[in-house]
Amino acid sequence: MSGLVVAMDGPSGSGKSSASRGVARALGLRYLDTGAMYRAITWWMLQQEVDLTDPEAITGRSGEPTLIMNTDPDTPGVSVDGVDVNGPIRGPEVTGAVSAVSAVPEVRRRLVALQQEIIAESLPGGGIVVEGRDIGTVVAPDAPVKVYLTADAEARARRRTAELTGTTVETQKAEMARRDTLDSTRKADPLAMAADAIELDTTPLTLDDVIAEVLRLVKERA
Ligand code: C5P
Repeated sequence: MSGLVVAMDGPSGSGKSSASRGVARALGLRYLDTGAMYRAITWWMLQQEVDLTDPEAITGRSGEPTLIMNTDPDTPGVSVDGVDVNGPIRGPEVTGAVSAVSAVPEVRRRLVALQQEIIAESLPGGGIVVEGRDIGTVVAPDAPVKVYLTADAEARARRRTAELTGTTVETQKAEMARRDTLDSTRKADPLAMAADAIELDTTPLTLDDVIAEVLRLVKERA
């Protein structure tokens, strides 16, 4: 039985997570946050004291953690070797380091393979909404529905600041600009819009508007 894959890409703060979860819930699909996977492996490397300024040290790390993803859109999350890391992976240390780790081709190969396995396992149950940076281009190039979410820098920074404590819009704006530049200029699978994706600027939209628009695209395309 074939299932549906909805690819949701875009820069940080574009509203991907809330929209993806909402779409998955509305359609009874699974939900995969691939950013959480890059964050989880970064958390593990920080624990192992891998030198994250050195791509060769990242590639040459010893051992490999086991990542288990919870793909229920009501309780999404990730564990690393049995440890729930959903709190620490959102902290400033991981956020500051994740783009360096995700730029390493060997890290991407492993995680893309794991993402494709999770997608394949979801298909008999109906399918999955997958959010990230390279879902429509690399992870699931055959997905019938691909959405590329954007929002202006100020709106993205305001949204992210509202989710965190002890930070300011200006700090978040600078941090997001730094991460977006790294993510979109890296050689391996950069942040990019697939040629067959629909671009959706979420700046003027509410979350419900964004979900409704993606559901409309699913009806039209899937
Ligand atoms: O989506 P989120 O902001 O949690 O992603 C964290 C980081 O993981 C991104 O800044 C990017 O470096 C990396 N990432 C990626 N490819 C994906 C998802 C996330 O490189 N598919």
